[in-house]
Amino acid sequence: MILEMKILVTGGCGFIGSHFVRMFCARAQIVVFDALTYAGNLESLQDVEGKFRFVKGDVADEPAVEAVVAGGFDAIVNFAAESHVDRSLYGPMAFVRSNVQGTLVLLEAARKHEVPRFVQISTDEVYGSLPPEGVFTESTPLAPNSPYSASKAGADLLCRAHHHTFGFPVVITRSSNNYGAYQYPEKFIPLFVTNALEGKECPLYGDGMNVRDWLHVEDNCRAIWAVLERGRPGEVYNIGGGNERPNLDVAKAMLKLVGRPESLIRFVKDRPGHDRRYAIDCAKVQDELGWKPEIPFEEGLRQTVEWYRTNRAWVDRVRSGEYRKFYEMHYGGR
Ligand code: NAD
Ligand code: TYD
Repeated sequence: MILEMKILVTGGCGFIGSHFVRMFCARAQIVVFDALTYAGNLESLQDVEGKFRFVKGDVADEPAVEAVVAGGFDAIVNFAAESHVDRSLYGPMAFVRSNVQGTLVLLEAARKHEVPRFVQISTDEVYGSLPPEGVFTESTPLAPNSPYSASKAGADLLCRAHHHTFGFPVVITRSSNNYGAYQYPEKFIPLFVTNALEGKECPLYGDGMNVRDWLHVEDNCRAIWAVLERGRPGEVYNIGGGNERPNLDVAKAMLKLVGRPESLIRFVKDRPGHDRRYAIDCAKVQDELGWKPEIPFEEGLRQTVEWYRTNRAWVDRVRSGEYRKFYEMHYGGR
């Protein structure tokens, strides 16, 4: 274990990044670099305040990235991204800026300062959509279908090129859908849970039979740590939970856990271009790095529902926008 490792974590105030910081701030010196977009929430890291350093900044802003990377790091883990497919349908430009340009700016700064490790956090969505059979492997051709996944694929290709052309030590993880605490309540699971807790309708797209492979966020963070420590430069590692479920089944399970009737499910117009099915073969990360998911979906979902039930204040502050004041109050002037 590299105890003295100094890591730059971009997007560390988002859903997955904040779990990564919480789980590993005792093992490494972490600097969080985050633009605090609507999805960035420093309050999510309140319980580990003081155990990491925070720098507010945009990964697409070259001087800002240069200034922080010049500080010297043993690794960069790039979580920073616009991450919601629905938003990418109506405002794709921000996705290209943060996801494509931002990744390139980071890669260039990291190369200039000879950062010896760069982990790019990507998604299984770069592979496109699966028919009822089959799984994504690391050699499945990229066929992104949404502006979000296209921008993530663009970033992956820049990472690949940096490894091929410059020998830059970049490793890519592509995970399936994450779930857990602190996820912004626009995504499927936190939206349904928080709506159900309030007795509100839950909008299910299309016929509700789209399939996602659910991965607990802490399992993903453990996999990312393994890749950071031991992944081979230039390689891609798929990370999946082995929990393929149609959305309708997950919706019913959430309502049951919340104690609300299934009649709260409202079938609504489908998302344009909605990918039908994702499923991941993660044998490579299991065989090479010895990682495997530890949290069974039913247990993880129960804990997640419980977290949203007992952390209504976090949800209320996100919904009201109050969470945006945290930075000024705690870091204002710094
Ligand atoms: P999120 O939307 O919750 O958080 C994104 C974070 O990045 C926020 O803190 C935001 O402020 C920050 N950010 C956005 N643009 C930035 C910019 N230009 N400069 C600096 N910071 C910026 O996202 P998430 O769900 O935590 O996802 C993290 C990463 O994992 C993303 O790269 C995403 O593509 C990938 N991923 C997510 C999932 C999932 O299910 N959530 C699955 C696979 C891959
Ligand atoms: P989402 O959480 O947006 O993740 P992604 O689109 O990246 O997989 O959505 C997960 C699934 O849930 C996806 O098939 C779309 C569906 N969904 C709904 O049915 N209703 C909703 O309100 C949302 C946000 C998603």
